[in-house]
Amino acid sequence: MSGPALAPLRYDPAGVMIPETGLSPDDLRQLAPRLEAARAEVLADVDLWTGGGKVPAEKDPLDAGFLNLPERLLEEYRGTRSTSQLEKILNASRRLAGVVDRVVVLGIGGSYMGARALFDSCCHPYFNELSRAERGGHPRLYFEGNNVDNDAMQGMLDLLSDRPTREVADRWGLVVISKSGGTLETAVAFRQLLAVLRRACADDAQAVADLVVPVTGNSGRLFELAKALGCDDVFPIPDGVGGRFSVLTAVGLLPAAILGLDIVKLLEGAAAMNAHFRTAPPGNNIVLDYVGVGHLMEEKRGATIRVLSAWAKGLEAAGLWYDQLLAESLGKNLQGATPLTIVNTRDLHSRGQQHQEGRRDKLITNLIVDQVRRDKLKVGTSDLDQDQLNALADKTVPEIMAAAISGTNQAYAEDKRPTADLHFPRLDEAAMGQFFQMMMLATVVEGRLIGINPYGQPGVEAYKKHMNANLRNH
Ligand code: PA5
Repeated sequence: MSGPALAPLRYDPAGVMIPETGLSPDDLRQLAPRLEAARAEVLADVDLWTGGGKVPAEKDPLDAGFLNLPERLLEEYRGTRSTSQLEKILNASRRLAGVVDRVVVLGIGGSYMGARALFDSCCHPYFNELSRAERGGHPRLYFEGNNVDNDAMQGMLDLLSDRPTREVADRWGLVVISKSGGTLETAVAFRQLLAVLRRACADDAQAVADLVVPVTGNSGRLFELAKALGCDDVFPIPDGVGGRFSVLTAVGLLPAAILGLDIVKLLEGAAAMNAHFRTAPPGNNIVLDYVGVGHLMEEKRGATIRVLSAWAKGLEAAGLWYDQLLAESLGKNLQGATPLTIVNTRDLHSRGQQHQEGRRDKLITNLIVDQVRRDKLKVGTSDLDQDQLNALADKTVPEIMAAAISGTNQAYAEDKRPTADLHFPRLDEAAMGQFFQMMMLATVVEGRLIGINPYGQPGVEAYKKHMNANLRNH
């Protein structure tokens, strides 16, 4: 890896070590051999998948291609830069940035949530409100096609011009993401926005083709549409990478590059997590330790609800990305913990009561950002001290946040409620790359540990079948 050493994520389960309601270090030590076996199986899955041999029935589907993807993309970029996938993504994002001021990203589930997590965690919190110069010349980014909400789509259309213009400020483009290419929500939104874009391009087919960038599998309806449109850039979602494991393909990388995020740093973070996962022993392995604590808390203490408690607004979408990952991967065969993302201190004022005094069915994992990106704001003095805050005038907002985190953990500990902490050195691409890879690895390791195939999502088909029948028969 080039550049300065990467600051690692840090996992601290000390708050789980509670004799009556939590775990003991011995519990984790005893689980270590099973965790190592699950890791070995996950790594063997990659070889099985790469080898291209027949996948045994009990392992089908096997979408292990996400695992060494960061290394493969980085290696290709460093080797044959001009023809590499990363360079193509960067070129497409530069090309779009030069000609439009808004990009609408269409996609749902795994084709949406990773990009949203990157937007929220790594960009200015009011990115779309900034001037083009303040955005570094990068287009505003919007997300659609992740629902079938009439008024939300109408609101989106209010922002998008349908008139031909040379003014970059009024021009917009589309990134449409669907691995299968047939997901109804995304397809409907694409059809609607494409119609508007064609009007905006005065039906000039080449102009439309320049402004639509599909990301899809190597076949399917979107693939065919992209061909029919003659799109300049079409990005593949590699075989063997499932939707919710695809954030580090063009699915997440293209929107990130459009926003001007450093996608090489993102992949370097993920590759560093892989290197650590492959070799570090249980007890010193962030992935295995995270799995071990979650699994044992569920088995021994009935903690079937896993709360990700994000202590930064920018991490809410990352939590929702993880909700999907865990729920769709392990929520099978009457098993799988229930994920729940909260953002504090906001949700201390809504869910806090239940987490402090409700059922003992939760493991709380705090996501803590150690270093803020911007200057630290102070409370400040005022001649109007009716709020009695002059006593705290010199306290900074990060100091108030730190007091809230330690105070909340203390209150949980007093009632013997287990908590673990996951520290982000700061919120940036390198940390998010580590986080994504850590959670994807943890999910597949836990799947192998409990005998659930983490890939595939057969249960999602049930609603689709009924929805389609209802639509076509009424
Ligand atoms: O994890 C998955 O595979 C799903 O959540 C998909 O990402 C989601 O259903 C969207 O599918 P597609 O990308 O095919 O439109």
